[in-house]
Amino acid sequence: MGAAVGKKQGEAQEDGGEVGSRSSSGSSSSGVSGGGGDEVVVVVDAGAKGRIVYGSGREVDVYELERLCDKVGWPRRPPQKVATALRNSFLVGSLVLQTERGGAVEETLIGMARATSDHAFNATIWDVLVDPSYQGQGLGKALVEHTVRELLRRDIGNITLFADSQVIQFYDQMGFEADPDGIKGMFWYPGRY
Ligand SMILES: CC(C)(COP(=O)(O)OP(=O)(O)OC[C@H]1O[C@@H](n2cnc3c(N)ncnc32)[C@H](O)[C@@H]1OP(=O)(O)O)[C@@H](O)C(=O)NCCC(=O)NCCS
Repeated sequence: MGAAVGKKQGEAQEDGGEVGSRSSSGSSSSGVSGGGGDEVVVVVDAGAKGRIVYGSGREVDVYELERLCDKVGWPRRPPQKVATALRNSFLVGSLVLQTERGGAVEETLIGMARATSDHAFNATIWDVLVDPSYQGQGLGKALVEHTVRELLRRDIGNITLFADSQVIQFYDQMGFEADPDGIKGMFWYPGRY
């Protein structure tokens, strides 16, 4: 957990830079997804080798997500609670590597970001992560930008997140502002009072 950062409506880039915008049909695996949209966008197209796709209506498998969290060194959370969190999220955006094998398309989860919301004014982005093997090539940025774009599309104007101290710069580049007008994120931890 870190500084609270926010983004007000109108600050999102209309064009996501390197991010592609080609629609395609998506497939899904067993798991849970946030309600709502079904945006599917090709982020990286490597032709026959496969492609990386962002989707906001795709189901995320809890155990595949657990493996991804392990890879970035996040502590384990009870799978049942993670499933509940995914199911109750307003938006679950995922990055999936699609490769073709024997005529079938195989999908591997390589990134995720989700958002909770009051469905009217506010959304908070959580659990932003990219598989370390795929970091450093713009995928994290694409993931956050698509998440913001989808929230704006759903008319949510106040978008916030909690940035770990080592990733403040990552969000700052995308227009997120730490402590705007002196606003501070405040946390209440059980057992302290
Ligand atoms: C943070 C994370 C999602 C970034 O993903 P990524 O795919 O490597 O990021 P990108 O390649 O899209 O980087 C976009 C830009 O942010 C910069 N950036 C990436 N990680 C950064 C970091 N930790 N600190 C500062 N800048 C960073 C990149 O240099 C790049 O800058 P450029 O556009 O000037 O080249 C990824 O490192 C990750 O999953 N980390 C572990 C989980 C985590 O900490 N999540 C955030 C919790 S709040």
